Amino acid sequence: MVDTGYYKNRPRPTSAPQGCPVDHTFSPFEENYRKDPYAELEKRRSGSPVFYSEKLGYLVLTRMEDVSEVFRKPEIFSSENVQYPVTPICDAAKSILAADDYDPMPVLSNGTPPDHTRVRKHAQAGFSGRRIRILEPYVRRRCETLIDAMIAKGSPANFVKSVAHPLPGETIFRFIGFPEEDDQKLKEWTANRLAFTWGKTSDDEQVEIAENMLAYWRYCAAFVKRRLADPADDFTSELLAVHKSHPDDLAFKEIESVVYGLSFAGHEIVTNLLSNCLINLLSNRSQWEEIRDHPEMIPKAVDEVLRIDSPQTSWRRVAVVDTEIAGYKISAGTEIFLSLASANHDEELFENPESFDIFRKNAGAHISFGRGIHFCLGNRLAILEATIALETLVERLPSLMLVEEQTFSFYPNFTFRGPAELWLTWSG
Ligand code: HEM
Repeated sequence: MVDTGYYKNRPRPTSAPQGCPVDHTFSPFEENYRKDPYAELEKRRSGSPVFYSEKLGYLVLTRMEDVSEVFRKPEIFSSENVQYPVTPICDAAKSILAADDYDPMPVLSNGTPPDHTRVRKHAQAGFSGRRIRILEPYVRRRCETLIDAMIAKGSPANFVKSVAHPLPGETIFRFIGFPEEDDQKLKEWTANRLAFTWGKTSDDEQVEIAENMLAYWRYCAAFVKRRLADPADDFTSELLAVHKSHPDDLAFKEIESVVYGLSFAGHEIVTNLLSNCLINLLSNRSQWEEIRDHPEMIPKAVDEVLRIDSPQTSWRRVAVVDTEIAGYKISAGTEIFLSLASANHDEELFENPESFDIFRKNAGAHISFGRGIHFCLGNRLAILEATIALETLVERLPSLMLVEEQTFSFYPNFTFRGPAELWLTWSG
């Protein structure tokens, strides 16, 4: 049985660079890290900011300077490992994904130059200001409808289920151009993809997710084919227009793969951003009141949430040549865990990094969207969704509060962070 191209199992664990401190306990799956990653990261940053994690088999970077340097050198540190499943794929799931017609290509996050450069140029044009503006009224309408439905059901409400989960899924489906009547099955097929790559999944879970991924891939392939014959005003049709005029510059198969990747890239991470915005703003009441009275402060508040409580806490790279980082010689094949969460709390860059402050001057210097050639294509869309959600909430529910004494549970995984449920209450 062969590894599937897109979701390759990790070739071999990295070994520790010579002289590099070895940490025997660090892992995002550890209880302490899951409860409070920032305290665990601060200990490392102030002790050994570059270390080898024995549990992960990765070199871990915690300082902004080192993380940025790796992002900025794609010819040395490749992103080809970003989709490697953390839990190796079992044979039963592999055989599902070995279907002849399941052949997504690494195009964006795990793509490498020169192909990545070529595909990204066209995808970036599709994320234009015009496309975002076209989508804005839909996001606003859907957001209002979901929040009104939450209010009608009464307080308390689970915000994740009522708003934070449905809104980004539906937004990305409209962006791609999928028809609304397919939303329900699309949501079922795209569920739990995070678990497949970044979680600790059982064989049975992997099989179920793999079946859904195959169904979703087939849906995407059929949809792209339909749009080729019958274009509309959406992102997919824009890419297909490029393909029609310059087939050598953007292949049909690459468009299928871009569409397939977007449902993941643009969904649960935004769910987590929306929830993290409310946790931070509502537990710092005066700052909630500030955005309530001055909604023009909302974009700054979103930036500060992205800094202090990023929905994406880490990302990966692999060295493709022998090189050096932070004074350590590392050999080709060394895998690197870039701690975005730690870099965002680096005291060299951010004063009082643990305090949530929507007036912070340099909150936008966070690294939650990455840097360099893979910089997040969906950043404006994510910020738009969070801004509209907060604008609607401060207007409709100024008395909004967190339900007291709730404990948040975070799905154990390598990279993403947001509560499984978020209970809110309000008066009036
Ligand atoms: C708060 C929400 C989001 C965060 C924190 C986030 C974060 C990131 C990060 C860290 C990367 C990798 C950067 C790198 O490797 O240098 C990335 C890449 C990417 N993101 Fe996002 N993202 C978010 C939302 C979105 C949305 C809404 C979309 C799509 C609508 C999206 C689409 C992408 C794509 C396509 C890439 C790959 C770009 C490339 O490799 O050229 N993201 N994102």
